[in-house]
Amino acid sequence: MDEYKREKLEIELLCSGIYDAYGYDFRQYAKASFTRRINQFVSDNGYSSITRLLAEILHNEDLIHTLIKSISVTTSDMFRDPHIFKLIRATVIPYLKTFPNIRIWHAACGRGEEVFSMAIMLKEEKIYDNCTIYATDMNDAALESVQKGIYHISRIKDFTGNYIKSGGRSSLSDYYHAKYNNVKFDNKLLENVTFANHNLSVDSIFLEANLILCRNAMIYFDSNLQKRVLNLLDGSLSNGGILCIGSKESLVGTELAHNYKSLSDGMKIYKKVPGYA
Ligand SMILES: C[S@@+](CC[C@H](N)C(=O)[O-])C[C@H]1O[C@@H](n2cnc3c(N)ncnc32)[C@H](O)[C@@H]1O
Repeated sequence: MDEYKREKLEIELLCSGIYDAYGYDFRQYAKASFTRRINQFVSDNGYSSITRLLAEILHNEDLIHTLIKSISVTTSDMFRDPHIFKLIRATVIPYLKTFPNIRIWHAACGRGEEVFSMAIMLKEEKIYDNCTIYATDMNDAALESVQKGIYHISRIKDFTGNYIKSGGRSSLSDYYHAKYNNVKFDNKLLENVTFANHNLSVDSIFLEANLILCRNAMIYFDSNLQKRVLNLLDGSLSNGGILCIGSKESLVGTELAHNYKSLSDGMKIYKKVPGYA
């Protein structure tokens, strides 16, 4: 069997084995980048093949968590795409202020940069106390990392630059303290945050939210899984609610597009207005 065919088959068997054994569904992840990350894991950990890795996973439940931790791409930044946070501050926050209780869902929250960014903004806009915030990811290690709120000090320069560009009203240093080579963000920023493991490929509607951010996870999914996730987000968003997706993700061409109105040309932030188009 040629190498390409064998690798394709091994990946299919790995995905269905993991799904049948543990319920994590990678079967509809974009194949090229998923295969690259699996091959990296195989070589870093000295397995002779993807099939060997599958055999080990089936006999050792801990390994699936190690694998998920290792192949999840959690790269992010505070106030990532600062123009989006600026738009949220200018347009979305005034809308959220009209509700006595506000529900916000960070789906696929990664290591928490987005959660802290939003919490800082909500504090500065004086609506944090009215918010119930849910931060979910399929990767338990990422969720633990958010709760620690610790980032390497070398990242603060970029975090601060983005904070300023996003229209921050104070100084980012008001929200963290530095210790050795790290900074730790204030625990008070997480007071209204509930963490949960939620897997966008298999789990169902999560809540009825006024604002959902699901950024930079769908890029790793194939078009069928993207469709599933968009439907799940749609089902979890109240009418009039706001959906924010990643800059390389899109609603265009999906069956949901006619129910969403872009808040600003070219920006991936939408208001749910059923029957809009
Ligand atoms: C690049 S991070 C995005 C973090 C944050 N949303 C941002 O844009 O800054 C992608 C996250 O998606 C998570 N993820 C990947 N597949 C997932 C799935 N099926 N369900 C939930 N989270 C998933 C990964 O664990 C990772 O933490």
